[in-house]
Amino acid sequence: MLIRVPRASEVRSREITDEELYLRRREFLRQSAAGAGALAGGLLLPGLGGAVEGAPAAGEAPGAVFPLSPFSTDEETTRYEHATTYNNFYEFGTDKEDPSRNAHRMRTRPWAVEVAGEVRRPGTLDLEDLLAPHAVEERIYRLRCVEAWSMVIPWLGIPLKDVLERLEPTPHARYVAFRTLHDPKQMPGQRRPILRWPYREGLRLDEAMHPLTLLATGMYGRDLPNQNGAPLRLVVPWKYGFKSIKSIVRIELTRRRPDTSWNISAPREYGFYSNVNPEVSHPRWSQRRERRIGDFFKRPTLMFNGYAEEVGSLYAGMDLARNY
Ligand code: MTE
Repeated sequence: MLIRVPRASEVRSREITDEELYLRRREFLRQSAAGAGALAGGLLLPGLGGAVEGAPAAGEAPGAVFPLSPFSTDEETTRYEHATTYNNFYEFGTDKEDPSRNAHRMRTRPWAVEVAGEVRRPGTLDLEDLLAPHAVEERIYRLRCVEAWSMVIPWLGIPLKDVLERLEPTPHARYVAFRTLHDPKQMPGQRRPILRWPYREGLRLDEAMHPLTLLATGMYGRDLPNQNGAPLRLVVPWKYGFKSIKSIVRIELTRRRPDTSWNISAPREYGFYSNVNPEVSHPRWSQRRERRIGDFFKRPTLMFNGYAEEVGSLYAGMDLARNY
């Protein structure tokens, strides 16, 4: 057998991990966006990066360069291997490694999303049709799990607001309810009554319409891995991670506050709002500190996960200890 010995240059490029490639591209974008930002009066505007010409639409070929949203944190991002192997997705098992072991069985194309309730344009849409007209952005968000760990993830997605506005909520719409796929054949965790299946979550309409709320389709510059909620998940960065429902098949606008899986299973532990709040302990542990995955030391948890300036006004006058 002929064994071809690779040249040194070939070896080097093969040893570069996807994550390193991603981070280099990210750094390049950050620098070019900062340069363009200086021209635009110091503002970091999406779509102004040197290599970024307008915003590619959803469904665009992989490898397209997406503009970095000014809502992004500049904290160090979590390693890709951690973000894709330490997951919560109970449909695939309750251990952190279960989703990355089992979720590859889920088929994510074709994928239909049912739009129902208080909208002028209800119906069942193919994922591409739901998303195609909208511009995809990259947003680097902190995600704080209720279990007192956190990550920093570079998401690709579309503000939920853009999608909802196109569906035209009626004046009666006050909440948005989401559901995950229900298919025990593909999702072995659903064969056991761990939670009320399908997984369901909800937001008040003003929370759903807040510009920070993202419908994510990708992370680290590529499509979402199944274990992270392919092909479509919610990301609500000021709330505990369980509000960020994965693999969404149904979006319903409602008049009444919808049920949520965690609230049904343990109402004293998980409320409807679930805003990150270091002042309000979980009944079984404190929420004052968190461990960023990859770090050794814990750090203080910030009110609204550090997004208080952006979202604090949504809860003005509310007792957040009662509305946990
Ligand atoms: N969505 C569904 N359908 N099922 C789940 O079990 N877990 C939630 C949330 N979305 C969950 C879900 C919890 S508890 C967290 S912390 C986040 O997903 C974790 O997202 P990640 O695995 O991408 O970090």
